[in-house]
Amino acid sequence: MKSQFEVYLRLKPSNNQSQNGMQYKLYQNKRLQVLLPRHVKFGLINNNRDNLEFNFTNVFDQKSSQEQVFSSVTTPVINSFLDGYNATIFAYGQTGSGKTYTMSGAETWQLRGVIPRTLSYIFDEIDKRTKFEYKIYISFMEIYNENAYDLLEKRHLETPLEQWNKIALYEDDQNNIHLKNLSIHQCNNEQEGIDLLMMGNFIRQVSSTPMNQSSSRSHCIFTVTLEGCDTTTETCFVSKLHLVDLAGSERISKSQVEGNLLNEAKYINLSLTYLEQVIIALNERMKGSNRQHIPYRNSLMTTLLKDSLGGNCKTVMIATISSDNDNIEETLSTLRFSQRVGQLENEIRKNEKVDLEAVVKRLEQEKLALIRELEQYQRTSNTNTNTLNSNTKKSSSSQQSILPITNGNYLNQKDISDKVELYLNERITQLDVKSLEEAQMCFEAMKDLYNIRMKEYVTELTFISEKLQKYDEILTRKKEQSSFVEQKENSSPEVDVYRRNESPQINFKKKPNQ
Ligand SMILES: Nc1ncnc2c1ncn2[C@@H]1O[C@H](COP(=O)(O)OP(=O)(O)O)[C@@H](O)[C@H]1O
Ligand SMILES: [Mg+2]
Repeated sequence: MKSQFEVYLRLKPSNNQSQNGMQYKLYQNKRLQVLLPRHVKFGLINNNRDNLEFNFTNVFDQKSSQEQVFSSVTTPVINSFLDGYNATIFAYGQTGSGKTYTMSGAETWQLRGVIPRTLSYIFDEIDKRTKFEYKIYISFMEIYNENAYDLLEKRHLETPLEQWNKIALYEDDQNNIHLKNLSIHQCNNEQEGIDLLMMGNFIRQVSSTPMNQSSSRSHCIFTVTLEGCDTTTETCFVSKLHLVDLAGSERISKSQVEGNLLNEAKYINLSLTYLEQVIIALNERMKGSNRQHIPYRNSLMTTLLKDSLGGNCKTVMIATISSDNDNIEETLSTLRFSQRVGQLENEIRKNEKVDLEAVVKRLEQEKLALIRELEQYQRTSNTNTNTLNSNTKKSSSSQQSILPITNGNYLNQKDISDKVELYLNERITQLDVKSLEEAQMCFEAMKDLYNIRMKEYVTELTFISEKLQKYDEILTRKKEQSSFVEQKENSSPEVDVYRRNESPQINFKKKPNQ
């Protein structure tokens, strides 16, 4: 299924009526017309237009509330995430334009942003979907200077950033990316999720060192992983939702920085430049150029978000701008970038799989039950036959003289078979036999029914055994593969360099102590 990227624009409320601020017109909350100031018109942009137009799925003007942004941007995305599709929502814009306000929110509960609202919505929804069993896991990381760090590791509260373990990426033989040193936390309710978010944000703040003075210099990825199982069909899926607050998109030439800070700005700028390159490459490929290579691997952020950008993911971008900003080139660069993103589309599919372990377990139980039933049946049949035999013998010896021989004229084989079946199923406790002939017919009916039922049992057992064997083999193969990966993981030292292969999936590995 094709899924076009959705791009939203959010305008930050104006603080002052700056003469140098951006002049714009908004049409039907979908089209933004930016009126170009003279110096841009004849300088940087160098064309004769006095305005530029940009189209969006929706534009949220300065009066729009957190709730409005959440319900129109996020709700459809999360519904599709709950159905088993991967999803990503990322905020892009200059420092101070409202990315963190949009994604996390401000001081009060009322002003909470997309992430906490998403958590509430997810837990409300899964309560309603009673046919499914869900498990929810959360991880939260920060990417800073091309290094990624776990924001949910409690030890980070006491140690400076320089001593934190970096998250390492490496690929297994199936080209899946594995992350080491990223904790995954199972989350049972909204409050636990909010606590994790708050802890992560707190760790992010206290990690501030001279090297990391402002959160605007790092990217943050809050990931919700959902395992859902349809209890009626044993079909399960795993879907991932990335909620991303990117670093400020301002250009390096504008950053008044030096030394370490220059290094940071270079890295941030580089990773956003690489993000732009990925988007350009994807655009070219979409327009029919035979460009195969998409440079995801140039930066950690684009590697981690590979699926979000050009893979199996429903992706939404929220571009944030401030009309107060007197640096209009930066705003225009955000707007232009958003238009390129808006042209992209991803091919999405449900990450569905049958839970083999559950199926094998169920089949084993069915097989056991069948064997027990078969044994029981054989035993009952023997006992019944014996009882019937002895009864018949008794009656034939003691009552033989009074039993009428009917020659079968009034007997119906079907009636006898039905009666025998009722008797074998213990629905009646006694078989009345009025003649020797009837007794013989009972025996015949019993033999037939017994043979039919035995055949049914054997067919069913063979079918189940074959299925079991097949699923068992697949399961064993899977377990061998995963233990191989685990062994590899345990034996491998921290790997900072990852192979430049394509990777269809990102697998977060659970820490053993989580
Ligand atoms: N839509 C908005 N409404 C009200 N205040 C906002 C809005 N967007 C941003 N702000 C405020 O502006 C400041 C900068 O926003 P912030 O989200 O931190 O920017 P960014 O993360 O892009 O650097 C914060 O004080 C924030 O509360
Ligand atoms: Mg921010």
